[in-house]
Amino acid sequence: MNADAIRSMTDSEFRALRDFVYQHVGILMTEQKRELLTARLVRRVRTLGLDRFGAYLDVVERHRSERDEMIDRIVTNETKFFREPSQFDYLEKAIIPRWRADADARHRNRHVRVWSAGCSMGQEPYSIAMILLSELPGWTVEVVATDISNRVLRQASEAVWPIDKATEIPRQHLEKYMLRGVRTQEGTMRAGEALRAVVRFKRLNLHETPPPDLGSFDLIFCRNVLIYFDGKSRRVAVDRLLSHLRDDGHFFLGHSESLLNSGHPLRPVSPSVYTWKGRLHA
Ligand SMILES: C[S@@+](CC[C@H](N)C(=O)[O-])C[C@H]1O[C@@H](n2cnc3c(N)ncnc32)[C@H](O)[C@@H]1O
Repeated sequence: MNADAIRSMTDSEFRALRDFVYQHVGILMTEQKRELLTARLVRRVRTLGLDRFGAYLDVVERHRSERDEMIDRIVTNETKFFREPSQFDYLEKAIIPRWRADADARHRNRHVRVWSAGCSMGQEPYSIAMILLSELPGWTVEVVATDISNRVLRQASEAVWPIDKATEIPRQHLEKYMLRGVRTQEGTMRAGEALRAVVRFKRLNLHETPPPDLGSFDLIFCRNVLIYFDGKSRRVAVDRLLSHLRDDGHFFLGHSESLLNSGHPLRPVSPSVYTWKGRLHA
């Protein structure tokens, strides 16, 4: 068989690739995802001049760089600015006013730390940063944005998007924090200096223990990431995330996700937004 002829994977190739992905990334590729997995990898297998997916897996197992390359291809990166607006509303109208009141009463410092876990191409962490900068002038804002995919992290740190994404951003933030590309950058927009200064990107696999120096956070966003995990790897990942959530912190999942019946000591305060049980205030 020549490399161009390769189209499908055998049962055993699929099982071996599925197990490898599950072991290293936590994502469970069910039988229904087989075609998707094939479609996402076939071009790479051909580019490497290989004639079987089995041979590709051998390369992936031997070379860390090819493992990363494979991960870049299999993850789903769909995202948008201000996705799930009710959560941003809750941040602006319920959480931030409490922080301000606590800071006025000297019960908290004026420093906010946020983790956007599974940040994709940056739309989520930059949306959070726009709200925090505009609502908390004079405060120190730190947004740590992590993802497993080097490709999306590169794009996110460049902070450049097609101009049509501008419609996703409320006008007042767009005017204040985004720059419209001119000349060679025509048709794009870029996050301005103030915004870029508060968002820091880092590669981090949520299927592994995070480095201890990551620190603790007031808010942790992990939206539309763990939906691809199975129950067991999801539970372990949530435990790890929560070990970095402050006593008065909030945890954000995607709208289709829930912690109900998960056994975690959190309670919902708004759709898919949680805080520790026992805390009096939202
Ligand atoms: C669908 S996007 C969600 C982006 C954003 N959180 C949102 O809700 O718009 C999922 C992101 O999770 C990342 N991801 C998948 N598995 C991961 C893992 N094991 N560790 C860290 N990030 C992972 C993917 O690379 C992708 O960028």
